[in-house]
Amino acid sequence: MPMEIDRRAFVASIGGVAAASLLSHEERAEALEHYMIEEIEQQDAPSSGSQNDRNKPAKARGTGTVFRMDDLEDMPAQPTLIDFYNKRFRTSHVIRSATRALETGQPERTVFACLIHDVTQALVRSDHGWWGGQLFEPYVDERISWAVRYHQALRFFPDPSVGYEYPEMYNRIWGVDYEPDDYIKAAHKEALEHKWYMEARLVTMNDEYGFDRDIPVGPIEDFTDIIGRQFKQPKEGIGYDGSPTAHMWRTLINPNRSL
Ligand SMILES: [Fe+2]
Ligand SMILES: [Fe+2]
Repeated sequence: MPMEIDRRAFVASIGGVAAASLLSHEERAEALEHYMIEEIEQQDAPSSGSQNDRNKPAKARGTGTVFRMDDLEDMPAQPTLIDFYNKRFRTSHVIRSATRALETGQPERTVFACLIHDVTQALVRSDHGWWGGQLFEPYVDERISWAVRYHQALRFFPDPSVGYEYPEMYNRIWGVDYEPDDYIKAAHKEALEHKWYMEARLVTMNDEYGFDRDIPVGPIEDFTDIIGRQFKQPKEGIGYDGSPTAHMWRTLINPNRSL
């Protein structure tokens, strides 16, 4: 079953009706997606930091969850991707998406793309597709980072050829249809014309199942083999490997560092 959203609680979480009315369509879409990810995380693990996170006033709404968590666990000296899932990322939504992709026999790189598609929301919420694609780019097949980058732009564009419908949730919550910003329209067009279009479209299709509570959530360790084949783990540990995005991973490791 798709999850139900308590509209009042959601609007309150973003500062009330007046604040919500000032948001652009894309900001609303990002806020809604983030809320749903937090909500399903909270339902799965009521003792997690989600509630804590939600109740804190967001000084900058675009910042990610690690900037609001009081209970950050230390990371090992040479962190692996699994360490980030266990200590930094929200996992319920992405594990459900990946499980669905796996169970329906989709290519392994799609399963992996689903597994990572929203985890950058730990670092930053706005334009999470672009941030996520960039964060993973040095470590994965380029079709995977491409798919993560474009999944954000495709989510409100239906594609009847593959049975992907416009997500009615947006209208139900906001009372209007989503109107893409120009840069989102441009990204959608770019993706449509690209030979890898389906890589991103498959992520948006599995995305919806990430909010389906009928799909069981196992531990991230269930994906150890797939991660081993799809993610180039640096021997120095992620963040200490000198990759072009190592600094982003270091910020995830220690978001409180001032220097
Ligand atoms: Fe997303
Ligand atoms: Fe998602």
